[in-house]
Amino acid sequence: MKVLLVGNGGREHALARALVRTSTDQNPVELVVQAGNPGLEPLGRSVVFNPLDPQDVVFRATSENVDLVVVGPEAPLVAGVADAVLAHGIPVFGPTKAAAELEASKSFAKDVMIEAGVATARAYTCTTLDQVDAAFDDFAAPFVVKDDALAAGKGVVVSSDRETARAHAQACLTREDGKVVVEEFLDGPEVSLFCLSDGQNVVPLVPAQDFKRVADGNEGPNTGGMGAYSPLPWLREDAVDEIVRTVAQPTVDRMAQRGTPFVGLLYCGLAMTSRGIRVVEFNVRFGDPETQVVLERLDSPLGELLYAAATGALDSLPAPVWSSDAAVTVVMASGGYPGPTDTGHEISGISQAEALPGVHVIHAGTGETIVSDPADVAAGCCGFEPDVRLVNTGGRVLDVVGRGSSVEDARRTAYEGVALIHFDGEHHRSDIATWPEELNANRS
Ligand code: AMP
Ligand code: GLY
Repeated sequence: MKVLLVGNGGREHALARALVRTSTDQNPVELVVQAGNPGLEPLGRSVVFNPLDPQDVVFRATSENVDLVVVGPEAPLVAGVADAVLAHGIPVFGPTKAAAELEASKSFAKDVMIEAGVATARAYTCTTLDQVDAAFDDFAAPFVVKDDALAAGKGVVVSSDRETARAHAQACLTREDGKVVVEEFLDGPEVSLFCLSDGQNVVPLVPAQDFKRVADGNEGPNTGGMGAYSPLPWLREDAVDEIVRTVAQPTVDRMAQRGTPFVGLLYCGLAMTSRGIRVVEFNVRFGDPETQVVLERLDSPLGELLYAAATGALDSLPAPVWSSDAAVTVVMASGGYPGPTDTGHEISGISQAEALPGVHVIHAGTGETIVSDPADVAAGCCGFEPDVRLVNTGGRVLDVVGRGSSVEDARRTAYEGVALIHFDGEHHRSDIATWPEELNANRS
């Protein structure tokens, strides 16, 4: 099966790694990947295209004669890449533009949840500051303000300080067509559950937990995610079934009834509150960095699962098989992230980290620069080996993944890897895959 993978960040590196690792002799996966990620490129044939241009993706898919297109990030989906690929008769894992609204618009997601009877935070959609003030009066602190539009995980402010929350609302509303969702605060630990859907059937993957805030102890601003782990030993065993029954399946059913069936990955971001499970957000693609730990535990062929989802055949496959091992990933970020980042610094130590048993390193924001010796350049020299160096190019740079027989083991392994890798300005959290003792009591 020949697969075109759209996107070239850490999530796509993890997807490519899992597609190749779980590929079978009967149905080997051959990958065509988007150029630009030095970790991802060696896993397939790498080609240059614009992931946000549906016709460019179609051109790649047809000229490479692929059997399946897998879209990693949300932006190409929202730009209509799946629609364009489908119009050419090629199966695509990822929702149409209309179904991608579940992530692209927080207020659309709220409407669907209400129609489907899915439990979520009470919310007001506001277009003026007066409406925001009225919503704040209704909910009281802590205040939750979400930019209605896509914001790469950075559009949400949760603050007990009314002025901070109000300032965020104001900044969003001053944009043309600006809209915010103000909602009640949900207490309780968060869980990410990824569900494959073929438009009708739902197949859950294993749950993971993401660490959204930039600093230890969940301090500082929200990020795209600073680390993740799976399994969640504190989560009660029937939680996944309950989430499928009360959240994912009703949402997929409702999207089908609306005439916009959801095909692809429904990412359910949930809060396990004292009053029950509540949806914090939906995304329409694999989460980053949760994918790095979830897929590390998959023992079934990923390509077959994604193909079945794309072709309406999920019910023809056995349930995916999972390793009992745990996986932990720690994000190493550039100086300044999630604000303006300090990039261009040389990265060292990746091969030493990967030499440790149970460690691999996913590239999320790296690039290569060629450092020429000025003497060679002056001599117009040929035949010398170019000195290629790996540098940080993005906010989140590397995801160091550790695998072990327990979360504890996997965490130790991941941090041993992190300790060997360096670049100027680098920062990471040191408390990934830890949780408060009281959660252990929730299990029963
Ligand atoms: P979202 O983009 O909607 O996932 O929000 C990003 C993060 O903000 C979530 O993962 C939560 O940590 C936090 N958050 C969002 N909504 C709420 C809420 N209603 N109550 C508490 N925290 C929230
Ligand atoms: N890790 C959160 C996300 O992918 O949105």
